[in-house]
Amino acid sequence: MLLGSRLIRRLSWLAPLVALVVIAACARDFPQTTLAPKGDLARIEDGVFFETVKWATLVFVLVEGALLYAVFRFRGKPGDPEPDQIHGNTVVEVIWTVIPALILAMIAVPTVKAIFKENETPKGDALTIEVVGHQWWWEFRYPEFNLTTANELHVPVGHTISLKMGAYDVVHSFWLPQFAGKRDVFPNRETRLWFTAEEAGEYSGQCAEFCGIQHGRMAFRVVAQPPAEFDQWVGHMKLITMQPTATSAVPRDSVHTSSAGAAVQQPAAAPAPQNADSAKASTGSEDPLVAQGQKLFLMKGCVGCHSLVAYNAPKGLLGPNLANVGARSYIAAGTLKNTDENLTHWIRFPQDVKHGVLMPNLGVTQDEAKALVAFLRTHR
Ligand code: CUA
Repeated sequence: MLLGSRLIRRLSWLAPLVALVVIAACARDFPQTTLAPKGDLARIEDGVFFETVKWATLVFVLVEGALLYAVFRFRGKPGDPEPDQIHGNTVVEVIWTVIPALILAMIAVPTVKAIFKENETPKGDALTIEVVGHQWWWEFRYPEFNLTTANELHVPVGHTISLKMGAYDVVHSFWLPQFAGKRDVFPNRETRLWFTAEEAGEYSGQCAEFCGIQHGRMAFRVVAQPPAEFDQWVGHMKLITMQPTATSAVPRDSVHTSSAGAAVQQPAAAPAPQNADSAKASTGSEDPLVAQGQKLFLMKGCVGCHSLVAYNAPKGLLGPNLANVGARSYIAAGTLKNTDENLTHWIRFPQDVKHGVLMPNLGVTQDEAKALVAFLRTHR
């Protein structure tokens, strides 16, 4: 027993090393790691980080090495005379001022270079995407294609993305660790960020500035796709929402007056196909459950905050655009996996899932929620 505990004590210095190895091995399980860059901007930031770590490690090894050497080599014994005092030794003081200054300069050069590079506006045929932070979700607009989506950003691999960012209500921070790092977004002020995705896949992003009680549930996904696949997605998004004009039970105005920020939500030129139209046209389903869900979507007031059109969508709506909600991997801004069960629960009890969110508990029954889910699943 005694032997065991002594052995453990002897080997305890290994613990941090083992922890480090385990963490490194599990790095792939941390989707928001900054240590696995998959884009050019993230790679620049990673470079600055490792440059700093390299110098810090060198300083650590040299200083600790000298310390250990002194401890063992010059260990004092009782009765030894007082050692020589070096206080006020100009040579020593100059050395330990100049060396750190040089090291800081070595770190400052790549850091400042990276800061300038990061603040450049990408030239050429970068794809501009507008990002709007809301409490607590992300709106993504593609002015080039006149498309709007929410919480799931699709980007083509190998194509520079230029983000023009703002906020609808309070200060948020757009953080996309594997591609682009972090940048604050403000109401009434534009900030920018750019990146080029290097590898196809799904990536995690997150709001990184405290913005209210559900700040932690303000995540987003980035779907990086090969260019051909991305073009297909753009075509698909236009197709699912380009509806013929039809008469509708909901006057177009109601979509607008029921949402705040009327000044920003007016779509650019041609009148947008409205929610009710798209609901009717995009389902066209004979499934009675879907038809019931469509009716409920209008009756329960969902239509007042959510648009079901991605193309030429009304801007500044209170709720996320739902044009392709049926195909997204998460709902409620990364809070829940997009399963039928979760979506039903979210529709019925949004205030339980995400307390304080603008979506109220509308008194939707289980059956009604099922119909709404069936209807929303057709929007994909
Ligand atoms: Cu938005 Cu934190």
